[in-house]
Amino acid sequence: MAFLYKDNKLMLNNFDVTKFCEAQQQACYFYDVDEILKRLELFKAHLPAKQSIHYAMKANSNTVILKSIAELGLGVDVVSGGELSLALNCGFKAEDIVFSGVGKTHKEIELALNSKIKQINVESPQELLRISEIAKKMNVVASVALRMNPDVDPDTHPYIKTGFRDNKFGMDSSFLPELKSILLNNKENLSLRGLTIHIGSQIVDLNSFKDAIDKTKLVYNELAHAGLKMTTFDVGGGLGMSYEKQNYESDYERIQKYCDVVKESLKDLDIEVLVEPGRIVTARAGILLTQVEYIKSSPYKNFAIVNTGMHHLMRPCLYQAHHEIKPVSYSSKKPMLYDVVGPICESSDVLGYDRLMPELQQGEWLSIFDTGAYGFAMANTYNCHDLPLEFCYKNGELITSH
Ligand SMILES: Cc1ncc(COP(=O)(O)O)c(C=O)c1O
Repeated sequence: MAFLYKDNKLMLNNFDVTKFCEAQQQACYFYDVDEILKRLELFKAHLPAKQSIHYAMKANSNTVILKSIAELGLGVDVVSGGELSLALNCGFKAEDIVFSGVGKTHKEIELALNSKIKQINVESPQELLRISEIAKKMNVVASVALRMNPDVDPDTHPYIKTGFRDNKFGMDSSFLPELKSILLNNKENLSLRGLTIHIGSQIVDLNSFKDAIDKTKLVYNELAHAGLKMTTFDVGGGLGMSYEKQNYESDYERIQKYCDVVKESLKDLDIEVLVEPGRIVTARAGILLTQVEYIKSSPYKNFAIVNTGMHHLMRPCLYQAHHEIKPVSYSSKKPMLYDVVGPICESSDVLGYDRLMPELQQGEWLSIFDTGAYGFAMANTYNCHDLPLEFCYKNGELITSH
């Protein structure tokens, strides 16, 4: 499905978003779960046959969404003990869970080993040693994958580049002698399952993924040569989309082309291909609905002061990210420019500068588009505000999920 305007009113199929807003008293996220599942099905259809999809739940960990993905039989990528517990509670099988992240604590590693998850994606030799020690004490064999840093520099915001040599993530080839030695000396507690990469987020140039995979294959060959046999190759997430143009078809095409690149790049290895998509799965399928509390016009600016802000949606202030903002119901009033701002006591609390909209009124509802990823997931209660509500729409049914 898609969020589309019909007769100047925002609709999700036959669901009238304007009517829905009339019954709301605070800002809320609204997710189209069917769209999320459709995108995951596309990955499934276009990846190589030996595949495993691990949705990166950091993008959106709403439980209705997680349960729906688990019901499809897919896997999940977690980055904390909290995410791991939530994934298990939402029905993901332990053997379908991979655990990423640079700073896993002792307790988190114990939880991962106790739960018998598919693999821990290791980010440093010290982490590998810690896993080995804990596994030894627990008398188990830990399934691990090594997160490599392929030193690629994709065209995305510096805060979400993760595969460049200056980033804290992964390990470059200079770590290999130490890693090999730890693995070979602790065979009874460490089982190397494969390699993993994740070069960043909101990446639209597919060549960056290809470069990263090609460089990591060299490491794969070197380790295989040293007698370390592997069965998985995890290419991470990171596929991006346009936040300026809400073009569903171009997203579908991009998913397909991305899968083709992954398939082609790894066709000569007999391994299971893992992917960890987040943003491209959920971003387009979510909107943040907010009500105009006040209109304030000075000789310099018109402000639409709304009941959401940087505490509910950090992306604009954190990454200068663009999100389309439109009234849920278009009037025929003359268009004016507005800065859409929140209630937080910071001048960075701006959701959009100079947005052209028909003259707005107090009490009117706006939709902030493409907010299904890294929206609610990053929301906080700064200034002691409430978190926004969340609603899901699935199979023609509205589900309240807070
Ligand atoms: C290890 C890992 N995998 C997957 C993802 C998902 O990335 P995206 O939402 O850009 O697909 C992230 C995001 O930070 C990540 O750190």
